[in-house]
Amino acid sequence: MSKKIVTLAGDGIGPEIMSAGLSVLKAVSKKIDFEYELEAKDFGGIAIDKHGHPKYNNAKVRPEQGLLALRKELGLYANVRPLKIYPALKKLSPIRNVENVDFLMIRELTGGIYFGQHELADDKARDVNDYSADEIRRILHFAFKSAQSRPRKLLTSVDKQNVLATSKLWRKMADEIADEYPDVRLEHQLVDSCAMLLITNPQQFDVIVTENLFGDILSDEASSLAGSLGVMPSSSHGFNGLALYEPIHGSAPDIAGKGIANPVSMILSIAMMLRESFGQEDGATMIEKAVTQTFTDGILTKDLGGTATTKEMTEAILKNCQ
Ligand code: IPM
Ligand code: MG
Repeated sequence: MSKKIVTLAGDGIGPEIMSAGLSVLKAVSKKIDFEYELEAKDFGGIAIDKHGHPKYNNAKVRPEQGLLALRKELGLYANVRPLKIYPALKKLSPIRNVENVDFLMIRELTGGIYFGQHELADDKARDVNDYSADEIRRILHFAFKSAQSRPRKLLTSVDKQNVLATSKLWRKMADEIADEYPDVRLEHQLVDSCAMLLITNPQQFDVIVTENLFGDILSDEASSLAGSLGVMPSSSHGFNGLALYEPIHGSAPDIAGKGIANPVSMILSIAMMLRESFGQEDGATMIEKAVTQTFTDGILTKDLGGTATTKEMTEAILKNCQ
C-alpha cells in the first residue's frame, strides 16, 4: 500500500532543500520498491502571506507559531535529534576531541514553558512551566526504549531539580520508571552541568532526555559539535504513528534562492522517515552511507567550508545511493 507523505517546504531555503530531499527519496524508493504519494502544503511565512485572513493582518503572527501549533495539535511529544560527527567534518568542530561522539538528544516537545500561560505587560512578564505526570511519563518511556535499542544503553536525564518543582517531579519519575528498564543505566545531570559536559566530554553521552526548553537550548549547543546545523536532521513522534521529520535549522533567508544551501539535513530527515515511520532500514542506510561518502569525497557546501552548490551536493549524494 502506498504511503502518504505531506511536504511542508516552508520559507527561505525550505523549497530548495525540500526538492533536493525529494529527488533522493524518489531515487532510493525505486531501488527499494517503496511506494508513496506526496501532498504539498504551504507552511510558515508563505502560508500566512497566502492564506492569512485580513483580521490577522495587524496581529503579531510569527511563522514559528505554525510549527508550535503543528507539534501540539499532532501530539508530537517526542523530538529526536541525533548527533553524529562525520570523520570528514571533524575539522569543522569547534572542539578538538570529537572522536566517538554519537548520541541522541530526546526533547519533550509539547509541554513545559512553551505551552504554559504567557503574560506580557510593560511592567511585568510571566511564563508558566507546567508539566503533568502523564507528559513526563510518556517522554521518559520513549527515552528508555530508545536507550534500550542502542549498544551502550545509557540514559542521561537532564533537569534542574535543585531549583525547579517540575524538575523534582521529573527526576522522581525517572528513578521510578527506571525499574521497568533494568538493562538501561540511568544517570542524572543538572542542565547547567550538562551544557558544560557537552563541550568538555561529549563522548560520555548515549541518549539524553530532557524537557522542552532545556532540549531546545541543549540541542542547538550539541549540533554545533557537528560543525554545521546544515547536517542535522530530526524526527518528532506522537500517538497513532504520526510523525514529523525536519531539519533542526531555520529557513536561512539570507542565502535563500542562491542555490547554495546545504540539503543534507533534509536528506537525512528523509532517511529518518524511511526508518522510523516506514520501517525501510535499507533505504535509510543507503542514504546515510551516501551522505558520509559524499563528505569523504570532499563534496561540501559553503557552510562546510566547500564550494559545492545545492545541486552538486544532491547529485553527488544521488550517485552514491547504491
Ligand atoms: C527548534 C526551534 C523552535 C523551538 C522555534 C522555531 C520555535 O528553535 O525546533 O528547536 O524553539 O522549538
Ligand atoms: Mg531550537
